[in-house]
Amino acid sequence: MKRILFVSSEAVPYMKTGGLADVAGSLPRYFEKELYDVRVILPKYACMEKSLESQLHFICHFYVKLNWREQYAGIFEAEYRGIHYYFIDNEFYFAGPSPYNQIYEDVEKFAFFSKAVLTALPYIDFAPNILHCHDWQTGLVPVFLRTSFGGDPYYAGMKTVYTIHNMKFQGRWRIREVMDITGLPEQIFNANELESYGEANYLKGGCVYADFITTVSPTYAYDITTQEGGEGLGGLMYARRESLLGIVNGLDYDEYNPMTDPFIDTNFSVKSVVEGKKANKTALQKKTGLPVDKDAFLIGIVSRLTDQKGFDLVAYMMQEILSTMEVQFVVLGAGEYRFEEMFEYFHGCFPDKLSIYIGYSEERAHQIYAACDAFLMPSLFEPCGLSQMMAMRYGTIPIVRETGGLKDTVEAYNEYEHTGTGFSFCNYNAHEMLFAIRYAQKIYRCDRKDWNDMVVRAMKQDFSWETSAEKYEEIYDMLCGE
Ligand code: ADP
Ligand code: GLC
Repeated sequence: MKRILFVSSEAVPYMKTGGLADVAGSLPRYFEKELYDVRVILPKYACMEKSLESQLHFICHFYVKLNWREQYAGIFEAEYRGIHYYFIDNEFYFAGPSPYNQIYEDVEKFAFFSKAVLTALPYIDFAPNILHCHDWQTGLVPVFLRTSFGGDPYYAGMKTVYTIHNMKFQGRWRIREVMDITGLPEQIFNANELESYGEANYLKGGCVYADFITTVSPTYAYDITTQEGGEGLGGLMYARRESLLGIVNGLDYDEYNPMTDPFIDTNFSVKSVVEGKKANKTALQKKTGLPVDKDAFLIGIVSRLTDQKGFDLVAYMMQEILSTMEVQFVVLGAGEYRFEEMFEYFHGCFPDKLSIYIGYSEERAHQIYAACDAFLMPSLFEPCGLSQMMAMRYGTIPIVRETGGLKDTVEAYNEYEHTGTGFSFCNYNAHEMLFAIRYAQKIYRCDRKDWNDMVVRAMKQDFSWETSAEKYEEIYDMLCGE
């Protein structure tokens, strides 16, 4: 039995700000149970929902050495859907209304978390063969493992896998301060290890020190080895390309299942999709105040409102789309104020055509996936993207830009061969996006049979975790010498 510990800053159901939480909370359930004991370790945030927090059990406490300080850390545990979760407690670091705060606070918080995870292992009596770390917040785990714990036989055989969910966020801060916070030796803050453009860089540390690197789609795995897509680390990623693999994410098929989803108005299957989606559309139109019209071309957006997701294209084109096209938009999102304000503005101008809910709502997200005809995701870059897969699972046709995981998971519609599962455009250009939306609407209006066939194809795509989990298993086996 191999022991694997997922180290992550978020995982459903305990904490979620984006797709990382979906992945860290669902993938562990899909490994071969007899061969892999996969557990997850997270921070115990003060902002965790109280009903979940009350289910955690205290195990013990210890002290974490961070340079000249000894910091308290408690360990809690819980079992959720057959997976063992551990939580690192420290009320100073994990306070506040959200898991992430200012970067100068977060670099210290996640240095503490990373060191605490390694220090915790003997206390929880779980010596993993593989520490599987995710994103910049855990980049120092492989670094501490090889430096601070390097001489300790307990840690000697442990290997690390580092998964990049988003190359844009690297955890960069002043070298002097990071040295002071972490107590890491000065000599590793050089251009081949932790230093990048004059700063300490956690993600770079993870990429240099990990035994193997993965990212969340094959196209993104290639993109990050280039100067354009590498966010300043393209050269390093290129140098490490033999130890870098893109594995596309899967969906939690229990959570995202139109046949059983408790959040949606009417459950449906591939066979009842046309009627089912109409009923959900009516329910959502009523709920959001849009005119009830079964034939409206309803486009959904569920997203963090950041420039990664292509909202400057949307901002540029929205006036033209809403004033010239017969469409309805239902938008759910939160993030940058300029985009929240943009959607509020267009809702004010076109209340019958665009509804906006600023905030986070799992329930409403599911309702949008179930009710809409199309789902717009014109991302500037997209490591994988789960929303477009969730949309397809509910028979909602994605309109996407061909980048990263969107390119790998959405096959462009071909009207001559009657193939494809969505609409796509290539360049990051607002008019290309407009033409894709118009084209989708034309097929929806003028060739409903072809549209409905595409809906069925989209729903039948295999976005389950099984195939991808096997690829991770192969990496674990290879690192363990099999
Ligand atoms: P990212 O991780 O870059 O935000 P993904 O497409 O991988 O993008 O994952 C986004 C996840 O977050 C999906 O589960 C999506 O449904 C969810 N999500 C995004 N914004 C919201 C919101 N405002 N309310 C509810 N769920 C949201
Ligand atoms: C990141 C990426 C997103 C990906 C998710 C889960 O948040 O932006 O594309 O799907 O991680 O891997």
